[in-house]
Amino acid sequence: MTTPGMITLALSKGRIFEETLPLLAAAGIEVTEDPEKSRKLILSTNRPDVRVVLVRATDVPTYVQHGGADIGVAGKDTLIEHGGDNLYQPLDLNIAKCRMSVAVRADFDYAAAVKQGSRIRVATKYTTIASEHFANKGVHVDLIKLYGSMELAPLIGVADAIVDLVSTGNTLKANHLVEVEEIMQISSRLVVNQASLKLKREAIRKVIQAFESAIPA
Ligand code: PRP
Repeated sequence: MTTPGMITLALSKGRIFEETLPLLAAAGIEVTEDPEKSRKLILSTNRPDVRVVLVRATDVPTYVQHGGADIGVAGKDTLIEHGGDNLYQPLDLNIAKCRMSVAVRADFDYAAAVKQGSRIRVATKYTTIASEHFANKGVHVDLIKLYGSMELAPLIGVADAIVDLVSTGNTLKANHLVEVEEIMQISSRLVVNQASLKLKREAIRKVIQAFESAIPA
């Protein structure tokens, strides 16, 4: 259940946290503790009625869905994999931008492997996105669910391809993999708990408006 009189915002450490700070500033909210310098999970702000909770990126939708947080910032990738049930998603914040792509070893013939009716082994953390992508192409996919370091799978021969986030492309390059297909552009979205939206309407509306005014071009 959400805490009355308090707005709780769920963020994940790293890029999403950093790129949400200017949006918070637009809403008059300043986080007064540095998440990189402590192991605290609940951070206070300059406003007594606003706090930030730090959770795993993949857990942001879950915390907001269950009312552990009123508002959260989560990547489109995370939201698709979660399903987004009971979440109001009012804004694309245009932050933490990257893309979801297919990558293979340079010596792998991807064009031949994705002919209609063929079969491909794909390692990924993003099983919903990957299975939908290959189903749309009419390609049978054997999915290997991993939780990180996916780049390793094609190198070791466990998979033919990976489906992963690409930002600079440096990780792929360092592991001699090539990006062969972009599946979708990714950015982070604002998510809101449905009950909070009704019970804390005014406070939440203000945050949404301020965030909207500060979305980077
Ligand atoms: C992501 C992704 C790649 C890397 C791509 O991992 O899984 O490994 O970033 O970025 P690049 O194209 O700029 O090299 P992230 O660092 O988000 O951590 P994760 O492995 O926990 O997902």
